[in-house]
Amino acid sequence: MGARVAELIADGQLSIDEATAVVAQVTTGTLGAIPTLVTHAVVARLQLGDETTAAAAIVEEALRHATPFLMVPRTAGAAVSVGGICIEPNERVGLMVDAANRDRTAFADPEAFCPARHDSNGHIAFGLGRHYCLGAALTRVVAEVAVEAAGSRAGTLTVGPVGHEELFGLRTARSAPVTRMERRRERAS
Ligand code: HEM
Repeated sequence: MGARVAELIADGQLSIDEATAVVAQVTTGTLGAIPTLVTHAVVARLQLGDETTAAAAIVEEALRHATPFLMVPRTAGAAVSVGGICIEPNERVGLMVDAANRDRTAFADPEAFCPARHDSNGHIAFGLGRHYCLGAALTRVVAEVAVEAAGSRAGTLTVGPVGHEELFGLRTARSAPVTRMERRRERAS
């Protein structure tokens, strides 16, 4: 990928700033956001315990409910009024992706983790429009494979809650305590 980015810079197709943004997005997406999403989706699979919920539905709801990129920055290209607030040209704003994914007017009972909800796919965890995440399809495949693999352990492990750290607008999963149910039963007897 580095060689391709270097070629695009040399051809004048990418500025240094654009190349830096793409490399940063790929790195944080792969090393930060995917592990966070997979942790949430796998924990959800183990907690739900039922094999009937599709892995894809769990992954979409995990993207909405535990949105990894909490905020994306923008610079206003022109004056614009949003919700009665005037944003001047060149002003920097943060688009609160996580808040939008918990918007009561878009999602029924937004605080609830519910893979069966009909409105799950309306989330904007991968952004919107021309900067929509280039890694979205890859991310979905990785997370769905992990959820399907975790399904075979459902009923044998108790998991969670997931511990988080929030750094530079990225929600990062740090811990998810796992207990084997057989061992708990042995202690009780
Ligand atoms: C859970 C995983 C991921 C999440 C939640 C996520 C989220 C996002 C979001 C919100 C944006 C839009 C940024 C903006 O509007 O400024 C974005 C852009 C982008 N993502 Fe991801 N991402 C993930 C994984 C990945 C992976 C694995 C890759 C690459 C292997 C990747 C590559 C990119 C690139 C290159 C962009 C920039 C697109 C552009 O500006 O045109 N992402 N991502």
